Amino acid sequence: METFRAQDEIKNRVRESTDIVRIIGESVELRKAGVNYVGLCPFHAEKTPSFSVNPGHQFFHCFGCGESGDAFSFMMKYHRLSFPEALKELARRAGIDLPERALSKNDQLRLKQRERLYAVNEAAAELFQQTLLQSPVAEHCRTYLLERGIPDQAREKYRLGYAPGPDQGGWSYLTGKLQKKGLAVADIERAGLAVKKEHGGYYDRFRDRVLFPILDMSGRVVAFGGRILGEGKPKYMNSPESLIFDKSRLLFGLAQHKEAIREQRRALVVEGNFDLLSLAVHGVENVVAPLGTSLTRQHVRSLRGYCEEVVLLFDGDAAGLKAAMRSVPFFLAEQVEARVVLLPQGHDPDTLIREKGAGGIEELVEGALGLPEFVFDTLVKQHGLTLNGKNRIIAELQPLFKAGDSRQRSLMVAHFSEKLGVPPAQMSTVAVETTRRSPVAGGEIQGSRFKQLSRQHRQLVDFLILYPELLDELLDAGLEAVVRDPLLLDFITFLKQTAAAGPCTPETIFSALSDGVERDYVAELFMRAGTVEQEDGAWQREMCDELVGWLRQRGRLQDEAGLLQQIREAQQAGDQEKLMELLKRKQECGRKRTEFCDNMLKKE
Ligand code: UTP
Ligand code: MN
Repeated sequence: METFRAQDEIKNRVRESTDIVRIIGESVELRKAGVNYVGLCPFHAEKTPSFSVNPGHQFFHCFGCGESGDAFSFMMKYHRLSFPEALKELARRAGIDLPERALSKNDQLRLKQRERLYAVNEAAAELFQQTLLQSPVAEHCRTYLLERGIPDQAREKYRLGYAPGPDQGGWSYLTGKLQKKGLAVADIERAGLAVKKEHGGYYDRFRDRVLFPILDMSGRVVAFGGRILGEGKPKYMNSPESLIFDKSRLLFGLAQHKEAIREQRRALVVEGNFDLLSLAVHGVENVVAPLGTSLTRQHVRSLRGYCEEVVLLFDGDAAGLKAAMRSVPFFLAEQVEARVVLLPQGHDPDTLIREKGAGGIEELVEGALGLPEFVFDTLVKQHGLTLNGKNRIIAELQPLFKAGDSRQRSLMVAHFSEKLGVPPAQMSTVAVETTRRSPVAGGEIQGSRFKQLSRQHRQLVDFLILYPELLDELLDAGLEAVVRDPLLLDFITFLKQTAAAGPCTPETIFSALSDGVERDYVAELFMRAGTVEQEDGAWQREMCDELVGWLRQRGRLQDEAGLLQQIREAQQAGDQEKLMELLKRKQECGRKRTEFCDNMLKKE
């Protein structure tokens, strides 16, 4: 408790000494409008400013996407900091000494550990960079880069480096030098730069490779990607994930290229590190690359703040096609416009721009297909337009329909139904559902109304049938308030009645259901559940926690949506007082939601 009080106190002091307009103004162009400042929202794509900062109350709110908060939440969301880091950063700027006791022991430990990892990565980046710049052992690396068309300036800008191999520097060139500088070998290992030997001692992870430092959004080195010089395996190697490096969130190049992306309102995504460098060298600077993983929803989200459109430039082979198709739902879900272009066979963006110059890439980008066209073309190529083919195409489209909101969904349904010559009403009935996390995945009973529920709702139904004794826990988490689906509500009522009549087990549910498809559904579910290996208790607990978490989160989002509506009304009515009060409530709501996310993250 002591810590909480201390934290509140210091938080308030920092907040009072912070000018939110200045803090946000560093990242977003703001202009004065009445008592507020307005600008383009950094959290969603827009052409007219709906993001406003209120200096009096020291908070921001976006009337477009509903994002809001204070200086702390801005730092956390925009710069991807944890709360303690945001506090520390704002305290530093305000010239306030952060007393140790302001943070919990746990937070302090994590913060210190993160700082040690940053220090290790920074020291390594400097050393690799120096080695590349002047060491005789890096001669062949310098030649390699020149041959690949990377000039000295680009080497500097991207802080490229060289890690010598065993022949030139021994097995622990970096580890030894960093230790001499006073860095702990345990931290070097945690940063993924040293690997422990089985019989004691450490060796360097990166040997005889050209290294690309990977920066987080505040420009700190958090990891490295390394390419072998010439042939060999593995061709590329990245730092493993750590406390400061999450490759499903970070994009290579975003830190260096965010301004170019913002200016052009467009980001290009390429697959490889050298593709990115090569484009940048040729003046195409609005480009990023994932780190040897496929594009994730978080990647898409991290681009959303900077541009209106993303263009994927992927290899023309099967892998490139698959990677592009896999990312489609993320763009729909994040409501980011995207287009795709597959490179001509045998080319990647690097070879293409070296052959044809920036104009070659521009031409490709101009001709890129919108997502719906791209998806459609791909599916038609795969399945053909026979009756059977159309059926398969419709089945494969289902996850896309689900990823979007209702407006996107009806647009897509209309679009594809016309192209396929299938009436809209039949576009979503051939649903091929997959319930991902559940070991009872994919009940195949056709006709059961349960099958038409959304994935999340069906998970609820399956779970409640198998573990009806946990109904109360879900009810406490707001089950009935959150769920609006009449079928599901009916089912809950039915469960409550069954439970009131005596102990409720899967079997009592089964026998209480009248004959018919629903009963068949339950029977099939039992069969599947029985045939799947499961660490029973653990899965049940985990699933229950996940569902409870989801229900709470949904409840909060629904509350927030209600508030947003009221906020819009108050704004239209020009009722300043009401607006302020509503915005405060919205902020409170958002804070709870972030806390929930933070807790989830901590749990991971
Ligand atoms: P590619 O194999 O397409 O290589 O890998 P590339 O970018 O054309 O490489 P160069 O031009 O031969 O140097 C694309 C990306 O996939 C990741 C890397 O991020 C690479 O840039 N990758 C590839 C790995 O992570 N590991 C590998 O072994 C290969
Ligand atoms: Mn290449």
